[in-house]
Amino acid sequence: MAIRPVLRLGDPQLFKVASEVSEFNHPELDSLIEDMFDTMEAADGAGLAAPQIGISLRVAIFGFDCNPRYPDQNTVPKTVLINPKITPLSNEKEEDWEGCLSVPGMRGIVSRYKHIRYSGFNASGNAIDIEADDFHARVVQHECDHLDGIIYTQRLTDPLKFGFTDELFSSGQLSREDCSE
Ligand code: NI
Repeated sequence: MAIRPVLRLGDPQLFKVASEVSEFNHPELDSLIEDMFDTMEAADGAGLAAPQIGISLRVAIFGFDCNPRYPDQNTVPKTVLINPKITPLSNEKEEDWEGCLSVPGMRGIVSRYKHIRYSGFNASGNAIDIEADDFHARVVQHECDHLDGIIYTQRLTDPLKFGFTDELFSSGQLSREDCSE
């Protein structure tokens, strides 16, 4: 169990395409996932991808009951998603503010698919196949992007709709009750 440092935007490791996991049910994989949950929870994150702690593997975690960084959002089940694949279930997209533990203190508007299906494996190698909407779908798309070396700042719909969380909040652009990072 350990909280690992989260790499920040500018670290070239964040832009690498991560490798598929080939061995499941493995103590090293289990301890990676444990460290990822410790790291995500310590930072009140909604999700975390292994490349964000410098491990170039296609492992993402997400989920929370109540998140102070996203107080208006419904709960998302705690999930370990390995070697994921995302299929949009419609062309409908939605714009919303997004943040990232690798870009601390900032938010930007990103357009994401509103309805998706995602599949992959859990740590034991059991297949996962889930339909998700709205914020749940957004978090999955955000975390899977990390596995392809993509940060949300590359997907901003408008460079003017991007900034420091406290400035966005005090100018009324962000309406979240609590925007602390
Ligand atoms: Ni992120």
